[in-house]
Amino acid sequence: MAEILSIASGKGGVGKSVISSNLALLLTKRGKRVILTDLDTGGANQHILFGVFHPTATLTDFLNNRYKSLNDIAQPVNGYQNLRLIPGTGDTLRTANLQYAKKKRLIRHLKELDADIIIVDVGAGTHYHALDFFLLADRHLSVATPDPTSVLDLYRFIKLAAIRKVLTLFAARDPIANAMLDKEFQSISEVLEAVGQTNEQGIPAAQQALQEFHPYLILNRVTPGSRINTLQLQSLLKQYVGTNLTLLGKIPDHESVARSVHKYLPVIDLDPTSPAAIALEQIADNLLATF
Ligand SMILES: Nc1ncnc2c1ncn2[C@@H]1O[C@H](COP(=O)(O)OP(=O)(O)O)[C@@H](O)[C@H]1O
Ligand SMILES: [Mg+2]
Repeated sequence: MAEILSIASGKGGVGKSVISSNLALLLTKRGKRVILTDLDTGGANQHILFGVFHPTATLTDFLNNRYKSLNDIAQPVNGYQNLRLIPGTGDTLRTANLQYAKKKRLIRHLKELDADIIIVDVGAGTHYHALDFFLLADRHLSVATPDPTSVLDLYRFIKLAAIRKVLTLFAARDPIANAMLDKEFQSISEVLEAVGQTNEQGIPAAQQALQEFHPYLILNRVTPGSRINTLQLQSLLKQYVGTNLTLLGKIPDHESVARSVHKYLPVIDLDPTSPAAIALEQIADNLLATF
């Protein structure tokens, strides 16, 4: 079975697409068969990063049943061995169009894709589709920049993902909890209290689910002057959400990245000795070390 990695962030424009495309390629260079899936609900652009302007088929074709299998949408990318791409289309996923049954089918097919690693670019934001796509993975990568608003948005994103994880756990067992899925909870303690009211054994089970939720953090666009304190973010998440966030690596802000986007080439190919490419290599190694 393929290992699924999801990449998300609280705020847009922090580098998820750039990081996912480069990681996908780096993992193929380490012998893995990789499928990069663009589930960004706001702005799907993975195909553009690879210079694929007219994909033969997109996720919309699958969602609209023009293709029976998601595997048939996964297309090779010009010249890259062992890499396939499932191009996204922002519109379909953003609208309420994505009914429950369609989402279930998409998730089922994702899990059955024929590859070693599936990277899912979830996009930004805390819409419940984004949370569900983030959570479906085996490993969860989150991205932030040192910008305080980005860090705050990331904290909020992880917290809401943790809440969603607990609620989904109970929704599967209990119709009352199922109804809670639509309720807006602001904190984990509120959720635990609600869960405890419907189910006595609920609280320890929920706490265990929170402990098992183990997202990773990639800090992008780091400059010598950035003052982000990841330890503080980690301890806040531990204290208020009960979740461990592990720092997977930091990527410096470097002009080679913008250049690579303009050239439609991943930076690890365009400029493999640039500081950004070296940091991405290190992150790919750190990631594989967790397998
Ligand atoms: N490490 C970096 N150094 C310099 N520019 C970067 C870096 N990471 C991302 N960028 C710039 O930010 C832009 C947005 O990145 P993108 O991956 O599309 O963000 P997201 O997918 O999170 O919305 C890129 O087009 C690139 O120009
Ligand atoms: Mg993106």
